[in-house]
Amino acid sequence: MSEIDNLIIAMNATIREALKRLESGGQGILLLVDAEGRLLRTITDGDLRRLILGGSVLDDTLHQLPSLPPKTVPVESDPITALELMNRHQIDQLPVIDASGRPRELWLRRDIDTRILLSTPHLGEWEMGFVEEAFRTNWVAPLGPNVDAFEKELAAHVGIGHAAALSSGTAALHLALRLLDVGPGDTVFCSTLTFVASANPILYQGARPVFIDSEPNTWNMSPQALDRAFNDAQRTGKLPKAVVVVNLYGQSADMAPIMALCERYGVPVVEDAAESLGATYQGKHSGTFGHLGVYSFNGNKIITTSGGGMLVSWDGALIEKARFLATQARDNAPWYQHSEVGYNYRMSNVLAGIGRGQLKVLEDRVAARRRVFQRYVEGLGHIPALKWMPEANYGRATRWLSVCTLEPEYTNIRSAQFIAELATKGIEARHVWKPLHMQPLFSGCDYYPHEEDAEFSGHAFATGVCLPSGSNMTPEQQERIVAAISQMF
Ligand SMILES: Cc1ncc(COP(=O)(O)O)c(C=O)c1O
Repeated sequence: MSEIDNLIIAMNATIREALKRLESGGQGILLLVDAEGRLLRTITDGDLRRLILGGSVLDDTLHQLPSLPPKTVPVESDPITALELMNRHQIDQLPVIDASGRPRELWLRRDIDTRILLSTPHLGEWEMGFVEEAFRTNWVAPLGPNVDAFEKELAAHVGIGHAAALSSGTAALHLALRLLDVGPGDTVFCSTLTFVASANPILYQGARPVFIDSEPNTWNMSPQALDRAFNDAQRTGKLPKAVVVVNLYGQSADMAPIMALCERYGVPVVEDAAESLGATYQGKHSGTFGHLGVYSFNGNKIITTSGGGMLVSWDGALIEKARFLATQARDNAPWYQHSEVGYNYRMSNVLAGIGRGQLKVLEDRVAARRRVFQRYVEGLGHIPALKWMPEANYGRATRWLSVCTLEPEYTNIRSAQFIAELATKGIEARHVWKPLHMQPLFSGCDYYPHEEDAEFSGHAFATGVCLPSGSNMTPEQQERIVAAISQMF
């Protein structure tokens, strides 16, 4: 924002005066107003040059200018809206006008385009080499040496037998349920505190989700709620076909009791580790505990292929079948023959190249995201109203996102207000996932709270906020966030 008094100019000023004011204003723009001070249009150097080329002389007044309704924003606008408008119209300045149409200030792109986003891709020095190799060898198809190598390298990194590189984490979840023969009439237990992609594939398969709450210590699936759900399912003679366990915000669920329960009832587990690649549980990698595990390489994840996913398992036959289903389920015949429904779900060789490069820096990215979390705690840990998502002592969380709750006991600030306040400072924070049992899409689905009469996920949603957590965030940017939050309390 800048002082605008010296940018405002009236119709009866001359072109000569306008040129001088443009020079002294230093913003490359003037604001032409009528007798009541209402904004008529903006004037740039180019506008004045066009007047002169059109035959006007320096002593002519600005009445010569054609009318041109200006792009403006009202005073209550936030910088993000302003920036969107600037991008849409490819302009770098935007007058802010009051209710009567008078200019009050001027937003400048250079002042507001310093947004700090929640979690952005962070490329390293290796990706380009693999991608160039794919181009050089003309392997730009949805298969190729990078795909094979990425599968092997990821499987080796997390310590699992087999992996299939796919077009997204959602595709991997869908294939997992298909491989487990989930179909119409079946139920699938699923964590409720998660992104909708964890449960959408249940619907793709025509099955019905039953949602399981989280526990406060890990924010992940509550073993005691799962136990009650299994008890009820057994009593009614309808055990689920699978359990989708989500590892939230970079932290593994408490897999030992969860696996023990699922094994007791003979129900296979799909581990949705889309958000937890790089995390560990009892010394082993998150995503390797279920019968099938799923990773995502979406642009906001800890490493990315711009979009992509991986399905992993100890069961090589399942992963082989996944590759078959992901390539339109083409039978082994000399022509195109198909006996079952397939999908176009394979990852491209170009994107797998990005993945190979990203995998090399995964451990650095984990360390960087943990440092981001640490800096938040150092800068804001003294504020009792902020309660940080705990790291369970059974493993290492990646802190893919730094998340806290605003404790109503200590503050009246609500999450929506907190997020909006940071947005005015160009800082992107987001709500914690709205639990799936609260989503209109899943209304009527069964839900098991952590305790009979006490739930956690609703509280996490109502009070939780995710803070910018990118591994490429600078300490200065984080200081800005810490200062903005400190000011609120
Ligand atoms: C928990 C969870 N599951 C699944 C997905 C889906 O992954 P993708 O976006 O790669 O389809 C995501 C993220 O996008 C996620 O956060």
